[in-house]
Amino acid sequence: MNTPRKILVTSALPYANGDLHLGHIMEQIQTDIWVRFQKLRGHDCLYVCADDAHGTAITLKAEELGITPEAHIEQMKAAHQAVSKGFLVAHDNYHTTHSSENRELAEMIYNRLDANGHIARRSITQAFDPEKNLFLADRYIKGTCPKCKTPDQYGDNCEACGATYSPMELIDPVSALSGAIPVPKESEHFFFKLPEFSDFLKQWTRAGHLQDEVANKVAEWLESDLQEWDISRDAPYFGFEIPGQPGKYFYVWLDAPIGYIASLKNLLDPKGEDWLDYWKPDSDAEVYHFIGKDIVNFHALFWPAMLHSAELRTPTKVCVHGFVTVNGKKMSKSRGTFINGKTYLEHLDPEYLRYYFAAKLTSAVDDLDLNLDDFIQRVNSDLVGKVVNIASRTAKFINKAGGTLAAEVAEPALWQQFVDASERIAEHYEQREFSKAMREIMALADAANEYIAAQAPWKLAKQEGSEAEVQAICTQGLNMFRALITWLKPVLPHLAEKAEAFLGESLNWAEPLRFRASDTINEFKPLMVRVEKDKVDAMIDASKEDAAPKATGPLADEPIAEEIEFGDFAKVDLRVALIAKAEHVEGADKLLRLTLDLGGETRNVFAGIKSAYNPEDLEGKLTIMVANLKPRKMKFGMSEGMVLAAGPGGKDIHILEPHEGAKAGQRVM
Ligand code: MSP
Ligand code: ZN
Repeated sequence: MNTPRKILVTSALPYANGDLHLGHIMEQIQTDIWVRFQKLRGHDCLYVCADDAHGTAITLKAEELGITPEAHIEQMKAAHQAVSKGFLVAHDNYHTTHSSENRELAEMIYNRLDANGHIARRSITQAFDPEKNLFLADRYIKGTCPKCKTPDQYGDNCEACGATYSPMELIDPVSALSGAIPVPKESEHFFFKLPEFSDFLKQWTRAGHLQDEVANKVAEWLESDLQEWDISRDAPYFGFEIPGQPGKYFYVWLDAPIGYIASLKNLLDPKGEDWLDYWKPDSDAEVYHFIGKDIVNFHALFWPAMLHSAELRTPTKVCVHGFVTVNGKKMSKSRGTFINGKTYLEHLDPEYLRYYFAAKLTSAVDDLDLNLDDFIQRVNSDLVGKVVNIASRTAKFINKAGGTLAAEVAEPALWQQFVDASERIAEHYEQREFSKAMREIMALADAANEYIAAQAPWKLAKQEGSEAEVQAICTQGLNMFRALITWLKPVLPHLAEKAEAFLGESLNWAEPLRFRASDTINEFKPLMVRVEKDKVDAMIDASKEDAAPKATGPLADEPIAEEIEFGDFAKVDLRVALIAKAEHVEGADKLLRLTLDLGGETRNVFAGIKSAYNPEDLEGKLTIMVANLKPRKMKFGMSEGMVLAAGPGGKDIHILEPHEGAKAGQRVM
């Protein structure tokens, strides 16, 4: 039809330190639908992706698992690929940023930035963990907020009062990795001179490469002064060493987007093709990046500036999407709505979700809500009730009559509606207005169903001599079904495959819609079953289990102590105690003073739970205490017993509470 376009498409490279969840999956489905659409239209389109495998988080995760970072990223890559494939996401290549191609390209691009005078070097002072011997990123430092004095605040802002500060300003800062007190340490860092690209970016970000709402957001950043971008990290760091700079590594976000090119190179090299055909400044190829709204600065500022400096082409479009929410809220582990791709696939058909996302996706940055009731209703009514229904109500009559289609269009005006819609629907896909495409497709499915219901071939078939009429109606029905499936093929590749099997052809959208007449079709087989609520519920339950704390973590940190006799245990007198009074202790940053009522006598106990409770919230609560612990003299007074509590610390400490109706003084066994 048109001359084929040469298109390269990417979705963001998932971090190799976590599983793919429905947020990642939404992005990959959005990208995959667009890519499949382009291929179906006859264009030369490649979809590449990779795991983002570098950075401190990877090292820490590998340490936690007791394996090497290399082994860890390899396992994650295999797991990510299996999940993508499960959702029918068809990458032409899936690589890793920890690859020879990426090292070569990162070095090449860095050398060009440096040669062009866009790299600055200077010493900066940062927090250093003297025990682990590494510089601490902000999120690995915790301490007491310098403004409001709330303990256990991470990084450079306080959750309690919202203050922002440098992590070195925290009171009593400690390394979250080792508990050591961080020391300020100087070292030389490398910076990319982003401010020098201010004019270039002001122009580029308004030249049609971004959605308007994204361009407006970026304009705000461009109006305030741009900062130079710190692109180096000191050893030890899991990544690529900067050429000629022993002990200095590329920051993970420098080589991550280069990973897009590396994945393409890895795909093209064996074919003897050149990645530069896509990335040279005058390339006739188009390049599209699909990303989430949280990583716009990297893709709309740093990346085009880097490419520009390195004398490579910049992306045709950066397509930004919003975040997935579930039942109107942020995905949450405790609600079971933080759903891993793998968990979904264990319970439900991937095409349900592909369709649901398609039905809701637009070209805007809005968040996308997966409402589970709506999901069940929408999939069942649109796919099973409307689309599949057309074939199951018509194909069997053709099959019965030997499988041959009628010679002519029964209802030309109705057919013309389908012909006219085809390019309109294609344009919606092209513009990433998938929801508009789905709406139009479903409206035509409604029209098709109305026609079949009105003609009622199942009634006609009972009348003698009606064969030709039934054949004509069902031929019309199947042709409308065939058009619908062609348009849905980017979203529902499996369903399309099954439909193609009985239609006996491979559907494409490169030519104008044609009416199939006079030839034969194969036997119809059922195409899709309904979504069952039970399965959705089971998926939510399983997601709650995924999120439940696993015994292996704490057990590995703190092995179970030496065995004791029952007698030893029986000596511990555990009692229900009423917290009659709870107060702050002058000068103590961890302790609260509790007055515990045992229903006859009271005890004064100091408990290290200040970070988790306001004293006034404790008063009147029942808890459990060791009542026969020998009184201990502490800095702030005598402590006459101990309260039982559990939790990792900080805000997350919970005092144990007895069953409802328990009485103070009652023995606990
Ligand atoms: N590794 C970087 C990307 C490097 S690209 C050169 C990264 N990884 S990520 O795993 O955190 O996210 C991958 C993609 O998933 C990003 O585009 C991100 O916006 C998207 N999403 C992560 N959570 C999401 C939702 N809850 N909803 C929708 N997309 C989300 O960022
Ligand atoms: Zn604060």
